[in-house]
Amino acid sequence: MPPMNAPRHTITTPIYYVNDRPHIGHVYTTTICDIWSRFERLLGKDVFFLTGTDEHGQKVEQSAVARGVSPQALADENCAEFRRVMSLFDITNDEFIRTTDPRHESQVQAFVDRLMDSGDVYLGTFEGWYDAGQEEYYTETKAREVEYLSPISGKPLDRATEENYYFRLSAYQDRVESLFAANPEFVRPEARRNEVLGRLREGLQDVPISRTNFTWGIGVPDAPDHVIYVWIDALFNYITALGLGDPESAWFQSRHEYWPATVQVIGKEILWFHAVIWPALLMALDLPLPKCVYAHSFWISEGQKMSKSLGNFIGLEQLNQYVEAYGQDALRYFFATQGPVGATDSDFSRRQFHETYTTDLVNTLGNCASRTSAMIGKYCEGQCPTDSGACAGGGVEWSQFTGAQVATSIEAMDRFDLAGSTGAAMAIVRRVDAFINDTAPFKLAKDPEQAERVGNILYRCAEAVRIATCLLEAVIPQAAGQLREAWSLGPASGDLADACRWGGLHPGTSIKKVALFPRIETDAVPAG
Ligand code: MSP
Repeated sequence: MPPMNAPRHTITTPIYYVNDRPHIGHVYTTTICDIWSRFERLLGKDVFFLTGTDEHGQKVEQSAVARGVSPQALADENCAEFRRVMSLFDITNDEFIRTTDPRHESQVQAFVDRLMDSGDVYLGTFEGWYDAGQEEYYTETKAREVEYLSPISGKPLDRATEENYYFRLSAYQDRVESLFAANPEFVRPEARRNEVLGRLREGLQDVPISRTNFTWGIGVPDAPDHVIYVWIDALFNYITALGLGDPESAWFQSRHEYWPATVQVIGKEILWFHAVIWPALLMALDLPLPKCVYAHSFWISEGQKMSKSLGNFIGLEQLNQYVEAYGQDALRYFFATQGPVGATDSDFSRRQFHETYTTDLVNTLGNCASRTSAMIGKYCEGQCPTDSGACAGGGVEWSQFTGAQVATSIEAMDRFDLAGSTGAAMAIVRRVDAFINDTAPFKLAKDPEQAERVGNILYRCAEAVRIATCLLEAVIPQAAGQLREAWSLGPASGDLADACRWGGLHPGTSIKKVALFPRIETDAVPAG
């Protein structure tokens, strides 16, 4: 439990379409949000971490028809797969919302009602270009730019005419521009913000928010032929999960203070909806805006765009093979350090995965923890030695050095720089390794007169490894748990900065030998 009055931190993932099964993209976004949520909890924040599934829309209806099942049955089946992701990868979400949940549906209708009353939603006729695969409308300019082909599926865009309800997005041009001007951090990273600013300059047009050519969706209040456009339905999940559309509800009572979100993490392909349409909808409803929309880039696989036909598709089965061979922490560590959190895509390759695991987790962290605890076992009877404070050689001012790395690691995570945060922790471990090599306690231990010095060295090694592990706990919770157990460290305290203060390890503590990361054969996971 976070302390009373702990600062709140709300983090969301996109809600995932149930017309397909989960793959690396979904697992990635969810895992990095999980890492961030865990880290914030370790800092003592009161975290609300939301994820879920997006279950309405034409795509789901069509997939269900093709399979000969009802859309709800298809949604139930694939939603269960997404829920399985949460338990398979030990995701600590606080809520898993489904857009077919009646509590969501009634709130969405209440919001649309309010928008109609305020005049922000009106009935009009639409003519334009529609990407059926993405369920997204394009303006003439955008359609021309993509040569009338879907940038995602490559299929031709459809010319569409429809009587629809519209959201008066055009009325929010000035306010959205001011939002961006006043909050340079509203969309991150910078490259993505610039993309939005470029498109904003073209001018905002009203967007249709209802459809009439299928039925699998939430009905527009008092308009039986219309269902609410799936994107509008989906965006509202972020606030219906907190009960904002129903102030009488239990959800509202216990959760409304978690809005606005601290950060809404998405993939770059759904930026426009989150960076422009979403804040405009919230403005129209007089609700606070999220502090930041963070759009990460994409995983490609073995150097190419993932595709089932190329045989490089990384679905749940493949990810499971990695987890079975290398462990859950290995996958999380790879996501955190090598993932496309910035503006460029990352390549998921078996070779790179194996190398990262072996270099960082086996040879560095695992080796250092095992070396340190083995020496404490051998030379100090398995008990944490005392540090007399005398110079032990090696030229490191440990308290100062670890203090600086801890500050860097915490500050990097605050910017969602997962690799930077992890890197600062690993720098501590690398320093310990060099320190052991420089001071050679295993040689000094042969001379009984050097016992104090050996104790000083080993205390410093163990304490530094402990601090690094505290910083890495959100990324590699299983290994951190193992080390806590073997080194009798007790559970994490909920005040990470304090836990990382030099001197937290008490002399006399029982330190058992640990083997955190086993060495794995190169071809542990078969290709494609
Ligand atoms: N349902 C919409 C989102 C509505 S949010 C109000 C949707 N769903 S989706 O199932 O297609 O999931 C898209 C998300 O999955 C991306 O935004 C991203 O988070 C993740 N990824 C999908 N493919 C990906 C990669 N190849 N690489 C990394 N993440 C990507 O869009």
